[in-house]
Amino acid sequence: MKRSHWESWHDSYSVKNSDLSYRLEVVKQRLQELIERFEVPVRILSLCAGQGHDVIQTLKENPNLNISKALLVELDPKNVSVGESEIKRSGLGTVNYLEGDAANVSLYSDFVPVEILLLCGIFGNISLDDIKNTLERSSSFLAPGGFVVWTRHRKEPDATPAIRNWCAEFGYREIAFDTPDRHEFSVGTYELVKAPSKFLPDGKLFQFTSSC
Ligand SMILES: C[S@@+](CC[C@H](N)C(=O)[O-])C[C@H]1O[C@@H](n2cnc3c(N)ncnc32)[C@H](O)[C@@H]1O
Repeated sequence: MKRSHWESWHDSYSVKNSDLSYRLEVVKQRLQELIERFEVPVRILSLCAGQGHDVIQTLKENPNLNISKALLVELDPKNVSVGESEIKRSGLGTVNYLEGDAANVSLYSDFVPVEILLLCGIFGNISLDDIKNTLERSSSFLAPGGFVVWTRHRKEPDATPAIRNWCAEFGYREIAFDTPDRHEFSVGTYELVKAPSKFLPDGKLFQFTSSC
């Protein structure tokens, strides 16, 4: 059977020192550090979660992390099935997939608020207006003092200066902006330092510009 674009996209995770495998290690490290900050069981929401390597590996490698539940929202059924198999193999009872369009906020309205929101592998595939809209709405998905982790490549024209400015505008404080030498990706880790905005279970966050 023909593999989908977004299924094959995950292949370079298994290439040692690829941009993607290196980025994964940074995201996992940041995710672990964020979970460890909380004294309460942590809720995680990952949009466009793909095969879920970041959340699944972090929880599998650190069985003592205090997790309440994690929801991975993903559109591609094959990626959902790969991720679900790995969750089962790893015995992670707190992690579940929701197959569907993560741009539709109503889809996961029963799951929010969360302590940690992952927006990884999204900002390189949507317009600047949609990035801004997603960041603006993101604070309504978070519990007070929650965190967001996002990724974005830094190819010219580098959008990360604008993204970092929007984070500040929408009430986030930068915890880390990882831009490792010799790699094109960046990982932004942000803490919500204003009150979360009101959650509205409607509207669309973004439209992917690459094929799915
Ligand atoms: C660049 S990959 C990132 C996957 C994962 N977050 C990671 O960093 O490994 C983008 C993922 O978004 C999924 N996707 C694309 N449009 C989507 C949508 N509207 N809702 C949910 N998932 C979507 C694709 O199937 C793909 O798995």
